[in-house]
Amino acid sequence: MKVEACIFDLDGVIVDTARFHYVAWKRIAQLFGGDLSLEQNEKLKGVSRMGSLEYILKANNIQKSHEEKSELAKLKNEWYLELISSIDQSELLPGVINLLTELKSLKIPLALGSASRNAIKILHKIGVDHLFHTMIDGNLVEKSKPDPEVFLKGAKSLGIKPANCIVFEDSSKGIEAAISGGFIPVGIGEDSNLKNATIIYSGFQNLTFDTILTDIAKAKSRTP
Ligand code: BG6
Ligand code: MG
Repeated sequence: MKVEACIFDLDGVIVDTARFHYVAWKRIAQLFGGDLSLEQNEKLKGVSRMGSLEYILKANNIQKSHEEKSELAKLKNEWYLELISSIDQSELLPGVINLLTELKSLKIPLALGSASRNAIKILHKIGVDHLFHTMIDGNLVEKSKPDPEVFLKGAKSLGIKPANCIVFEDSSKGIEAAISGGFIPVGIGEDSNLKNATIIYSGFQNLTFDTILTDIAKAKSRTP
């Protein structure tokens, strides 16, 4: 196994924006006297804006017309953009910048693979967009994770086979997408949500490319 490229999800992997998505969706649910628990929110990670709205409406037994859904999705995005309006480098998740710059210096090509339509704006705001060779976001895909489209487009654009790319993901849907696309899935966050990943780290603190390669090789040698 040779790792020739890395693909990073954005929300909850590079930057701590997952909590702002949660706040904005919870407010939407509360508009109709509904709610969104943290457990339900886990299922929304990696899911597109409209897919998330559909889930919340269904969970709260609410029916809306096509136009009303568009309005609600727009409102959620306005609230979300307000919440992230002043984010800067301090919202980068601990250790991620060190790994990104190490990979860059090792000439490992990097891709972004995010469901968010705001992804490129956010990468620019936190000053890391220049580290990526290609950025695939929610505007460039038709199918939401767990479909592997976003990662396959990233790998294609880098010219690297999925089997030689690591995908870093914080959501179970993203890990599923990486597995079905034939990538090497690395989970970032809670073990319980990411159990199908080849390896799971609680965060990027003190992680080097070499450590990751060693851990992947060990994990693969344990798999029958
Ligand atoms: C994903 C997030 O990265 O992007 C989801 O995990 C979010 O929570 C999705 O709904 C779409 O984001 P946006 O910014 O296009 O509304
Ligand atoms: Mg994520």
